[in-house]
Amino acid sequence: MNGQHFLVTGGAGFIGSHLVDALLEAGHAVTVLDDLSVGKPQNFAHNLTHPYFHFVQGSILDKTLVTQLVAQVDGIYHLAAVVGVKYVVEDPLRGMQVNVRGTETILETACARRCRVVLASSSEIYGKSAGVPFAEEDVTVIGPTSVPRWSYAVSKLLDEHLAFAYYRQEELPATAVRYFNAFGPRLDPRGYGSVIARFINQALDGQALTVYGDGQQTRAFTFVADTVRGTIAAMETPKSAGQAFNIGNPREITMNELAAQIRESVGADVDIVHVPYAQAYGTAFEDTPRRLPNVTRAAEILGFRATTSFEEGLRQTILWFKEHRDA
Ligand SMILES: NC(=O)c1ccc[n+]([C@@H]2O[C@H](COP(=O)([O-])OP(=O)(O)OC[C@H]3O[C@@H](n4cnc5c(N)ncnc54)[C@H](O)[C@@H]3O)[C@@H](O)[C@H]2O)c1
Repeated sequence: MNGQHFLVTGGAGFIGSHLVDALLEAGHAVTVLDDLSVGKPQNFAHNLTHPYFHFVQGSILDKTLVTQLVAQVDGIYHLAAVVGVKYVVEDPLRGMQVNVRGTETILETACARRCRVVLASSSEIYGKSAGVPFAEEDVTVIGPTSVPRWSYAVSKLLDEHLAFAYYRQEELPATAVRYFNAFGPRLDPRGYGSVIARFINQALDGQALTVYGDGQQTRAFTFVADTVRGTIAAMETPKSAGQAFNIGNPREITMNELAAQIRESVGADVDIVHVPYAQAYGTAFEDTPRRLPNVTRAAEILGFRATTSFEEGLRQTILWFKEHRDA
């Protein structure tokens, strides 16, 4: 083997499994650590016969295990987390424990070996800020602690602070990548966390597409292959250490437009209906009105730009859902 050996936490999940494929393709060896709480064996089944692929079922909260695995690798892609507002709203305690204590375990262990770390952060950390497009040094506007949904953003903010504290004080080469709504094949077909998955499933089932609120809220969706390229660029760019990068496609789309586009792409003769947030998430819910990345820093330092059009990404995603959603 000519490449390096990487630990990918959360490598059985949506983004992590695509990252693993790209690393193996590039000639690296990969060890995945995933507790399969959300990740699925079918996301890595095709790699089980690969000579440089190794899967370990376990938790990032298991420090003994993490220490053993980190001792064998050149770098860590840390993606394991309780992900998505819906999961976090349902179980905020587990969300905080995994996302904060788990990340601290990874960083502390990596620090002992000065092992390079790329940490998956999120566009959620910009919160309700109206300052779109969001640049990495912008302020974040996080809602009150009485609203559990903000605990996800706060956990990711704390993760970044931890990583950068290790960078400044212990010279740990750590970089944060802030993902903006990744989508693509292997999105959880139950559509639990992703609006794209939910709309595609509804359209394929011949059901009305349910848009929360007035549907004027926007997101910037990023095809997962682009998300993965930006992540690898962060690992491969030593001067990225100590900084955060927006990894996203700067095309903004409203939920109303998204619903219409998915209905058309699937070819479904269904209604688009609006439902109050309270119906979907309970009463104490706040949404972020607009979300759009400023991608200048990623372009200048990482040489990264998203290159897959939303339409092409959607085409590949719908195709995959048609083939796999009952799996
Ligand atoms: N999908 C997005 O659009 C998006 C946006 C912003 C940030 N992120 C971040 O990217 C990373 C990957 O997200 P994803 O969309 O692939 O989600 P995902 O849920 O598919 O992947 C997360 C993986 O972590 C695993 N996991 C959870 N708790 C664990 C634990 N205690 N120990 C070991 N493994 C554990 C899960 O089983 C799952 O496979 C996460 O850190 C997430 O916060 C994702």
